[in-house]
Amino acid sequence: MNKVALTDSEFATIAKLLHSAAGLSFDDSRRDSLAFSITERMRITRINDVESYLTKVGSLTGSEELQALLDEVTIPETHFFRNPPQIRALRKYVIPELIRQSEKTKRLRIWSAGCSTGEEAYTLAILVREFLPVSTDWDVKVLATDISTRGLAAGREGRYGERAFVMTEPADMNRWFVPDPDGASWRVRDEVRSIVEFEHRNLVTDPPAFEAGEADLILCRNVTIYFDRETTRELMKRFYGRLRDGGYLFLGHAETLWQISDEFSLVSLGDAFVYRRLDESAVEPVTESIERRRILPDRRTKSEPAATGERRKGDPDRRHKKRAPLEVPKLPRLVTPALPIPRVIAPQFETRDPLDTVRVALSEGRYKEAADLAAEVAGATPLRADAHYLWGVALTNLGQDADALVVLRKTVYLDPEHGFAHFMLGGALDRLGEGVAAARSYRAAASTLAGSQVDRTTDELGGRDAAELAALCLTLADRAGSSASLEGSS
Ligand SMILES: C[S@@+](CC[C@H](N)C(=O)[O-])C[C@H]1O[C@@H](n2cnc3c(N)ncnc32)[C@H](O)[C@@H]1O
Repeated sequence: MNKVALTDSEFATIAKLLHSAAGLSFDDSRRDSLAFSITERMRITRINDVESYLTKVGSLTGSEELQALLDEVTIPETHFFRNPPQIRALRKYVIPELIRQSEKTKRLRIWSAGCSTGEEAYTLAILVREFLPVSTDWDVKVLATDISTRGLAAGREGRYGERAFVMTEPADMNRWFVPDPDGASWRVRDEVRSIVEFEHRNLVTDPPAFEAGEADLILCRNVTIYFDRETTRELMKRFYGRLRDGGYLFLGHAETLWQISDEFSLVSLGDAFVYRRLDESAVEPVTESIERRRILPDRRTKSEPAATGERRKGDPDRRHKKRAPLEVPKLPRLVTPALPIPRVIAPQFETRDPLDTVRVALSEGRYKEAADLAAEVAGATPLRADAHYLWGVALTNLGQDADALVVLRKTVYLDPEHGFAHFMLGGALDRLGEGVAAARSYRAAASTLAGSQVDRTTDELGGRDAAELAALCLTLADRAGSSASLEGSS
């Protein structure tokens, strides 16, 4: 079946239905992907026209189909140890502090809200198990909830392919996962699984998990990016109510409570910003290196109004004005040098290779277009290392380092001699705070570039020769490696 085209009224009907069912917001930019999902459901249900499908999914008896459509439209993107700054903050400050504070009750309640296929919840369980091995008598529960039955089924199975481990260190892999005999997937160890529970829960329409004030830590990352402001505001109110005094809320790196909620306090832990419920009576946090920020980071788009001076009752400034600011010890920060991104040269002649169109788009700065086309070429010809490489360059230029990482890893897997790909991979890892891995990639870049052809390097790096770039890679490797060891010792 070809992809259906949604009329304005069909699009409006389905967008309204998904908004009321799950808080999901679909603007015109997602019309195409919605059409794909509807086509897929129409193919499976053998319904031939959109109108009949909409009648079925919107009817009183259509709840099963609505669930199937939600499984189709929700974005399951996730992996273990996602967002390294937050993982470091959890490991170094949050989990040890929560354990210290709960020493009397020996009880921890953690919620991965919007857990997708479970990697986030298992990561949390691993971080807890690092401190509380299975032999302890603590009552620990990591509750993993999602609206997607498909995601929950995968989470309960607890078996994952390579893609889930892009940010997993080999030591963690060996410690917490058991390889399947086929060598293509890994299972989460029982000691980790035993503290994770999966539950179907709609964050917008179902009552929240946990009793009031019961949760120690909530992660709701990369979920509210699909909600509108009002839906997010309501959800944050509920999270606030479920957290105990001193409990933490982690959102995704693109999510903020600015103009959403001023009940939470923003604290910086190392290089992560996280939110915290701190009531009037809250004890001072026991971690030394918490800086309580008075102003939420401003990630407004240009169209959003500037903050007014108006303050509400729950304003963090008022609630904390008697407290002296906490001292912030200087953490060694990884300073990523302004690295050259290999210049991609547009071809001088007409060819039929779609990658040439990608190169033209890149050379003209149309990165989004380049990324979309390169992704398409990589999907159609998955063994073409250059398609993945150009996709990685486009994503890097768009500032999407975590996505670029996945694609560039694939490039060097397909072509281990691709010096530029190793170099770009090093840069992405470096900016994501993965110093040790970055150093490794820079070294691989140095050794492959040193043996590569000079003119290729000259073309792509505007006059540099291979030896010069290889030497730069060695310097960068040293710098990334020493930042990582400083950080490890701090
Ligand atoms: C991109 S994933 C995020 C996974 C994980 N939190 C992470 O950051 O890696 C977003 C998840 O939110 C879930 N979701 C979206 N709307 C939801 C709702 N109303 N209730 C519960 N889960 C929802 C989706 O099913 C999807 O699994």
